[in-house]
Amino acid sequence: MYFSTLRLQHFRNYDTLELKPVQGTTVLYGANGSGKTNLLEAMHLLSVGRSHRTAVDREMIAEGQEAAFIHGETQRLDGKHDLEVRLYPLVKPQKRVLLYGKPAERITDMMGHATTVMFGPEDLRIVRDGPAARRRFIDMQLSQIRPSYLKALKRYLSALESRNALLRAARGSGGAALDAQLDAWDEQLAGAAVPVAETRRWFVHELAHNAAAQYAAIAENADEPFALRYTGPLATAGDPGRQMLEGLRRARGEDRQRLYTTFGPHRDDVAMLLCGKELRAFGSQGQLRSAVLSMKLGEIALIENEMGETPTLLLDDVFSELDARRRNALLQSAQGVQTFLTCTDKADAAGARADAFYRVVNTDGHALLQRE
Ligand SMILES: Nc1ncnc2c1ncn2[C@@H]1O[C@H](COP(=O)(O)OP(=O)(O)OP(=O)(O)O)[C@@H](O)[C@H]1O
Ligand SMILES: [Mg+2]
Repeated sequence: MYFSTLRLQHFRNYDTLELKPVQGTTVLYGANGSGKTNLLEAMHLLSVGRSHRTAVDREMIAEGQEAAFIHGETQRLDGKHDLEVRLYPLVKPQKRVLLYGKPAERITDMMGHATTVMFGPEDLRIVRDGPAARRRFIDMQLSQIRPSYLKALKRYLSALESRNALLRAARGSGGAALDAQLDAWDEQLAGAAVPVAETRRWFVHELAHNAAAQYAAIAENADEPFALRYTGPLATAGDPGRQMLEGLRRARGEDRQRLYTTFGPHRDDVAMLLCGKELRAFGSQGQLRSAVLSMKLGEIALIENEMGETPTLLLDDVFSELDARRRNALLQSAQGVQTFLTCTDKADAAGARADAFYRVVNTDGHALLQRE
């Protein structure tokens, strides 16, 4: 798929913008703070419903404005798609989605119209940070590939929140009535956990396969196998529903003390191993970078396999950092993939086989795109 039109209004430092991107590679270059990442962020928002760098939607609304409009048209194998996200800081709902100009019933309906893979400097956090960063990574990607996954995840998280609320409300008290209530929530939570754990297990398994092949192609050292393994309470369960139920029962005493649920896929993680050793603890800077790049390239292949078409690739500030071998691997994976690439100097994009160049300039706090 590719973005054929992107329209922004009062988004970050864009007052208004209408862009008709080429199908191939677009280079966006300009000084720090000019608005390059903002543009990639807008496309990311259209694909997964949220920013890649903030959890606070209102930060994306231009200062002093009451709403931001982000409108995209994409061309997919099945035809043209049209979607818009509107952000409001003061009135509820603060995020609204329009499909083909009409309000969508649910935010999750926006999934599947635009598909992106973003690769930027902050992606090293997938390796370096705690398990939550890896769960976020999996969830973002899976929601794009399997829209039903996002619904399943929301259902699980909502049941989890209800069970936690019950634990907090019952603080200090107990008895048969509470046990019966917890029994009911345990059943619900166990049922909701199954699709989440099973889909995550499938995704990590597939991604591991692709990422290992990519890593082998870019690593200096040929005998450095890179592996990903889904870990978590239900990672290896033959019957995840039963295992979840048993786990919740076992943890009930502890949960009642801590006032939250300690067992379940909300504790999942992904082990990243190089030569069988934990990458985060033993990997060099370069190995970490290669691992993350391999995962991103592996994702492109996974999306293509699953959806039958390629995503749009958003490369923020990473191209100039790569050595020749990694750059070539990236260019090979990006063949036939709509790509947006940002850099501060136009010369940094040399070798990127670009089809369009735009200089991004910031004048009086507003971003402007100048086509060359
Ligand atoms: N809500 C907002 N309203 C107005 N301007 C904003 C808003 N949020 C961010 N900005 C402005 O956007 C600019 C940052 O844009 P962006 O992150 O896209 O820069 P960049 O071109 O990617 O820079 P770098 O090369 O440093 O990564 C800053 O000038 C910032 O002040
Ligand atoms: Mg930037």
